[in-house]
Amino acid sequence: MSRFSPFREELELKPEEHELFCELFRGIAGLSLGPQSRFSMERRLRDRLVALNLKSFSEYYQVLRFHPHARAEMEEAIDAMTTHETYFFREDYQLRAFQEELLPLLAKEKKTTRRLSFWSAGCSTGEEAYTIAALVLASGLVDDWDVRVYGSDISKKCVSFARRGIYGKSSFRSSIPVAYTSYFDRRADGDVEVGKSIRALCHFGQMNLTDADKTSVVGQVDAIFCRNVLIYLTDDARKRVISTLYEQLRPGGVLMLGHSESLLNVTTAFELYHLKEDLVYKRPPGTP
Ligand SMILES: C[S@@+](CC[C@H](N)C(=O)[O-])C[C@H]1O[C@@H](n2cnc3c(N)ncnc32)[C@H](O)[C@@H]1O
Repeated sequence: MSRFSPFREELELKPEEHELFCELFRGIAGLSLGPQSRFSMERRLRDRLVALNLKSFSEYYQVLRFHPHARAEMEEAIDAMTTHETYFFREDYQLRAFQEELLPLLAKEKKTTRRLSFWSAGCSTGEEAYTIAALVLASGLVDDWDVRVYGSDISKKCVSFARRGIYGKSSFRSSIPVAYTSYFDRRADGDVEVGKSIRALCHFGQMNLTDADKTSVVGQVDAIFCRNVLIYLTDDARKRVISTLYEQLRPGGVLMLGHSESLLNVTTAFELYHLKEDLVYKRPPGTP
């Protein structure tokens, strides 16, 4: 069916159906979807109804709850309902603080094992994870160390895209900073491919951050970037995710959030760590 079929525009998400979907997505992924999300939800999910040739959102709800392929369809629905905006070198003041102030500290703490691991939790299409890898390599502080960057996202499509490692213009809001051009390869079609050196450090996997049992596969890491993810979650989900991130951070490790996010009223377990241009959260050293 054509995307512009008149039928498509007639698919209306009724308020009572909207409430059911909100509850469903809140339960599965911790997504915070209030009454104001009805029209955006209608717009985001309509393509799925068209793809499955369904006549109403109620039918779609039944598919998500009871169909033998409900699980695969839920992946599609969650992918449609989450916001994946991201780009390389996002929030550069924080990345500068990470590279110039935090990385030397972490490298000093780990000089015996010569092993560092980072987690981009909610990495979307991978730009954040590859950015971290480029920053770490360019610092020159950990040459020949065992460095790993894990990227995870609830969206399977995003994870596949990240693994592919090929990006168009929109992934670079501005040109690649000169110091980093050697980490990327320009392709004949104009797209940019992440180079071998940063690709080798990065590993991607699908993961729902509200599912604490699954997140343990990441192991304990030295720093976590969980930027622009918590803003989309309910208070309860945010608390659960933060507690998971705390567990996955080694004592003394740091957590970086997006510029509009904070742990105020979420937890007191972390120490605030003041950098010249930024504020990050540290799991107190020595905590069991
Ligand atoms: C706006 S993007 C942020 C990407 C990147 N961290 C950045 O700051 O550029 C938010 C990502 O969080 C993911 N996300 C939302 N809820 C999630 C959950 N419960 N578990 C894992 N990822 C989730 C979404 O799929 C989306 O790709």
